[in-house]
Amino acid sequence: MKAIALPPTTHEPQTYNGPPAEEVLRLRREYLNPGLFLYYKRPVMIVEGKMQYVWDHTGKRYLDGLGGIVTVSVGHCHPHVVEAANRQNQVLQHSTTIYLQPNIAQYAEKLASKMPGDLKVCYFVNSGSEANDLALLMARLYTSNYDVIALRNAYHGGNASGMAVTAHSSWKFNTPHSFGVHHAVAPYPYRGAYGHDDPDAGRKYADDVKSLIDYATPGKIAGFIAESIQGVGGFVVYPDGYLMHAYEHVRAAGGVCIADEVQTGFGRTGTHFWGFETQGVIPDIVTLAKGIGNGAPLGAVITTPKIAAVMTQKVHFNTFGGNPVVSAIGKAVLEVIERENLQANSLKLGTHILAGLQKLKARHKVIGDVRGQGLMLGIEFVKDQATKQPGREECAQVLENARELGLLLGKGGLWGQTIRFAPPMCITEQDADFLLAVLDEAIGSV
Ligand SMILES: Cc1ncc(COP(=O)(O)O)c(C=O)c1O
Repeated sequence: MKAIALPPTTHEPQTYNGPPAEEVLRLRREYLNPGLFLYYKRPVMIVEGKMQYVWDHTGKRYLDGLGGIVTVSVGHCHPHVVEAANRQNQVLQHSTTIYLQPNIAQYAEKLASKMPGDLKVCYFVNSGSEANDLALLMARLYTSNYDVIALRNAYHGGNASGMAVTAHSSWKFNTPHSFGVHHAVAPYPYRGAYGHDDPDAGRKYADDVKSLIDYATPGKIAGFIAESIQGVGGFVVYPDGYLMHAYEHVRAAGGVCIADEVQTGFGRTGTHFWGFETQGVIPDIVTLAKGIGNGAPLGAVITTPKIAAVMTQKVHFNTFGGNPVVSAIGKAVLEVIERENLQANSLKLGTHILAGLQKLKARHKVIGDVRGQGLMLGIEFVKDQATKQPGREECAQVLENARELGLLLGKGGLWGQTIRFAPPMCITEQDADFLLAVLDEAIGSV
């Protein structure tokens, strides 16, 4: 493969003096969950990050095209975020909601100001799985119904309730966990029954939600949960109108609508601050994690005062949720997104890259589909464009090739057939062009 120069950076990484990668791998094998998986035949060990770049232990620099799995939203070690965390770390690291604390209150006000409609009550947790667990509880308490509709090809977390609404066999352990959960057909234009060429596809896919309500539930449901763009499922963008029609069916059956914004929130989709807005809907409950904290363990559930009222029946408490340090970080992340116009940057560069991906698709037969919104872009690989047989090995090889060329990417889809690109939103046009040149070379060498 021909080498491609990474755009220059002024950041000088420190010399790494820690244990060698082989030693870390040995410790990991001996003392960590044996079910963990690693990307790359020769695992990458990342020891430093600055904005859109990371460095491995040998000093090699990469463009971070996955941002710690769609989590580093504003840039690794962004100075404003680091300063907010450091300042708070020196004064008070922890208290809980049994005392007044300014950070959590001010952060909740700022976060709520970003939400449309009556979505203004914030619950802080530590992860996306916890946020979805709480959202499902709220839906069930508020409606007094139990059944929930989720989507096939969804990922909502690794705890019991997250696993229940997730719909990829790879993430579901063989224990009872999905009682009362029904999975509707994924509105997946490339693989589903209604393609990109069907202007009515959104409504048609949503009909399956209605059908499930009628055939698989008592006719009344607690709610519907969907990512606004499927993340782990391979950045599947729904056809226009899908969520609007699905929400209508759900609300007619007494249910509430939960938008899982764990990957799609905070301006990443470019045109809107929240992914659900790209579908023209307002949910009743929104769950947040990942990019909300730029890497800090922070998650949130935001809902309406009416739904929140049901949570006063009992005490609901979370020791670390909204702790002073993560609240300072969360607020700083919002400030950076605003000051640096990162949503506009996502739109500008996402549009530029998607146009480049279309050109790559015309040139490389292994590409079946390119798609995405803003800086959430996917390339689905196939062995054959006519049969659409998933190109798992092709995708894995592109990932390996890109790594050699200095670009880290993600994988998604049931078969690991889709490349996912979701970098920190601070990337530049030079980074975008580097990405396209690397992809061209990496795909051409498969
Ligand atoms: C859409 C979505 N929801 C929920 C989760 C679970 O988040 P966490 O890993 O923080 O529990 C994830 C994680 O990948 C996700 O992508």
